[in-house]
Amino acid sequence: MTERITDRVNGERMAADLAALAEMTRREQPGYTRLAYSEEDRQARVWLREKMAAAGLTVRLDAAANVIGRRAGESEASVLVVGSHIDTVPNGGRFDGIAGVVAGLEIARVLHEAGRRLRHPLEVIAFTNEEPNAFGISTVGSRAMAGKLTAARARELRDPGGRTLAEAVDFLGGDAVRLGEARRSRGAIAHYLELHIEQGPVLDRERIPVGVVTGIAAPTRLRVRVEGRPDHAGTTPMGMRKDALAGAAEIVLALERIATDVGDSVGTAGRLVNQPNHANVVPGHVEMMVEFRSIFPERIAAVRARLLEAMQEIARRRGLEISWEFMMEERPLQIPPETVELAAAVCEELEIAFRKLPSGASHDANHIAEIAPVGMLFAPSVGGRSHCPEEFTDTADIAAGTRALLGLLLRLDARP
Ligand code: GLV
Ligand code: MN
Ligand code: MN
Repeated sequence: MTERITDRVNGERMAADLAALAEMTRREQPGYTRLAYSEEDRQARVWLREKMAAAGLTVRLDAAANVIGRRAGESEASVLVVGSHIDTVPNGGRFDGIAGVVAGLEIARVLHEAGRRLRHPLEVIAFTNEEPNAFGISTVGSRAMAGKLTAARARELRDPGGRTLAEAVDFLGGDAVRLGEARRSRGAIAHYLELHIEQGPVLDRERIPVGVVTGIAAPTRLRVRVEGRPDHAGTTPMGMRKDALAGAAEIVLALERIATDVGDSVGTAGRLVNQPNHANVVPGHVEMMVEFRSIFPERIAAVRARLLEAMQEIARRRGLEISWEFMMEERPLQIPPETVELAAAVCEELEIAFRKLPSGASHDANHIAEIAPVGMLFAPSVGGRSHCPEEFTDTADIAAGTRALLGLLLRLDARP
């Protein structure tokens, strides 16, 4: 049997890359913590740039500090992109996003070693800051590439310490004043591909190595402020309080109920800051991040309407001031059926078992889909665990996903 170029994907080499990146974590924290714009992020990017260069890629940062490694094509027309992210949530795992960047790196190495030039140029991209940040948004790099984050907005968004997102992007070597230059026009990217861990239980439960993603749910995220009144916890009668935390607790439970009732949607209040946060003071102020997601636009609209109504009712009944700011309102994404079918055909040809499934997590692909056709593959997450230290994916599965991704890339490259 003749060797296929996809057989050259080397799982052990990828496992070594994943292990190296896992070392670049905040040591004193459990699990893996490489927050965007941290020293660890900067260190990992230096490492990645060296690895990209060794894989024969020409490396640059764009204005959004996206790390881009490019391999020239026979023609310099539209580019094929393989991307994901290397930042993590706090106390998260070592595969979310990272597996996709390492897959891109491995594909570049395989092509380099085989001396195989594609028709299109290939770019391997580690997008800046995919995970939620202290500035209130996520997917900074891919958002900028899709033209959805302006320099003015990056100067406006501040973390609780007062640093602007623009300063954070510059810290990584970006050029936030020129953020607009990170934008790619429609047609510039021939196809965007991303391998990601599933972050859910389906593939692991069914013991299937590759998921072909059919669509991606989209998050809506709000910053909610609940203003009550700080008072003495011993002397203020129950009927005379304006307890901001009790109001916030009602919002959390309302969201849980609404997302459950609406169905095919999820709602989470994952961040909450209570002030003054002291045992004998009635909470006077709460700020929280609230998000909900679905793959169905009508369900997103239903959760949105009912949540806003519930917050107004809670404010009225409790005499609180509740205000909110929409930080993100993304659109769910349907992957083009022809890409899904092409990915399925590639898996069949490579004799890799697969199934089709939607993505509950959001990805850089959500934004890139606004300027280019996208395709996405999943590798199984053991026990469906993710965004936690236990997150794990077998090397053999990551290698299978990478072979399928390379197969898909070659098919797309060969298209007229
Ligand atoms: C990304 O990890 C997300 O929030 O789905
Ligand atoms: Mn994540
Ligand atoms: Mn991710």
